[in-house]
Amino acid sequence: MAKMATLDIEGKKYELPIVEGTENELGINIKTLRSDTNGVVTLDPGYKNTGACESAITFLNGEKGVLRYRGYSIEELAEKAHFLEVCYLLIFGELPTENQLNKFHNDIKAQSHVDEDVKRILDGFPKAAHPMGVLSSLTSALVAFNPSSVNVDSEEDMYKAIVKILGKFPVLTAWTYRKRMGLPLDYGGDSLGYVDNFLKMMFKKPNGEYATNDIVLEALDKLLILHADHEQNCSTSTVRIVGSSHAGLFVSISAGIAALWGPLHGGANQAVIEMLEAIKADGGDTKKFMAKAKDKNDPFRLMGFGHRVYKNFDPRAKIIKKAADSVLEDLGIEDDILDIAKALEKEALEDPYFVDRKLYPNVDFYSGIIYRALGIPVEMFTPMFALGRLPGWIAQWREMRLNKEPIGRPRQIYVGETLREFTPINER
Ligand code: SDX
Repeated sequence: MAKMATLDIEGKKYELPIVEGTENELGINIKTLRSDTNGVVTLDPGYKNTGACESAITFLNGEKGVLRYRGYSIEELAEKAHFLEVCYLLIFGELPTENQLNKFHNDIKAQSHVDEDVKRILDGFPKAAHPMGVLSSLTSALVAFNPSSVNVDSEEDMYKAIVKILGKFPVLTAWTYRKRMGLPLDYGGDSLGYVDNFLKMMFKKPNGEYATNDIVLEALDKLLILHADHEQNCSTSTVRIVGSSHAGLFVSISAGIAALWGPLHGGANQAVIEMLEAIKADGGDTKKFMAKAKDKNDPFRLMGFGHRVYKNFDPRAKIIKKAADSVLEDLGIEDDILDIAKALEKEALEDPYFVDRKLYPNVDFYSGIIYRALGIPVEMFTPMFALGRLPGWIAQWREMRLNKEPIGRPRQIYVGETLREFTPINER
């Protein structure tokens, strides 16, 4: 017998079916609410209480600090998997066999070139342009050079579009960085692994050879896994809703990049380092910044803290914090910013304002420490987040299209002027 919810509106009762997920989450299915009640809708700014879809990709429990991709714990995947394996898992639902992974990688390598004319678009940007704006534009521009990637209804055509964006996005990301640094663009090499090839495209010196640094490679591979998906976050919801109009995968990803750019979302990793640098420049007085974060009249927020879903430690933050210590030690780097971060975390975790609001460090709080240690400049932190989140965006877009979900079009409650007549300007 299906579970039902009863709604009483002005004395009239309505029965609504309850959906139960595989992790025993309950959702009230309001698909017929407006027609059943002759126009009543729900209202939920920021969708804090609203499920937009049923998804089989990522499960998270914010109260318990649990995160799993296709049933595998983030802790196991971060420790035992490689990023390209996790891309395959998120998109197709299973960990690949060696043959499947090799074919997947070869199909991606076959698409890891970008039309030379894209360089002319890149050249049109000022060097100081923020890489997220450049990356979102270039990703959208890819459509012009790959028109067959737009109207994809069959799984086969979707696969072709998917390996194209997985092949070209790292190139665009690395080129965005090299343009900013005034370096010649590099194409990487077919003999390298997916993440190693990206590092070569980023860091190969124009007049030198590229040599894999295993510490850097392992650290970035782990960071990309930790950022790969996170159910219906702001940028993923953006990808799903843009994709629901069948606008195509590349522009849906471009819209996701734009949403991720915001400092309340993926842009927080850059904002955290800028905040820690400001604390350092101010003499390291963390208490002053804590007071600002608690002051309702001060727009300042403790970047890298708090989360819409996690009301416990973000499991990714725990893993990244541990990795930050070992990466800095392995690379022999002293970074007093890490000490400031740890002092700030300790203070916040003991402060009633943060404790009462269940504000813990999130994925962005420590990730920038590692990116810095890897030699990645702060403006490239959020593009790194986008590179990691790419497979999650793809997986969620593919699920939405294969489920033939309707175009996203929320309702509203109108609170503006009621009907009034036009008055000519000379009578106003
Ligand atoms: C990501 O959704 C995802 O899954 C995102 C993400 C992913 O993988 O895709 O996990 C990645 O975006 C992580 C979040 C990165 N953003 C930041 O670190 C920016 C700083 N954090 C905040 O802006 C905030 O915590 C949000 C945006 C993350 C969450 O905001 P909510 O859920 O809308 O919570 P809220 O604004 O309603 O805050 C509740 C209370 C408020 O105080 P009161 O009005 O109750 O008195 O907590 C306070 C807020 O003022 N608060 C903070 C705070 N975060 C919340 N106060 C100071 N500093 C903060 N960081």
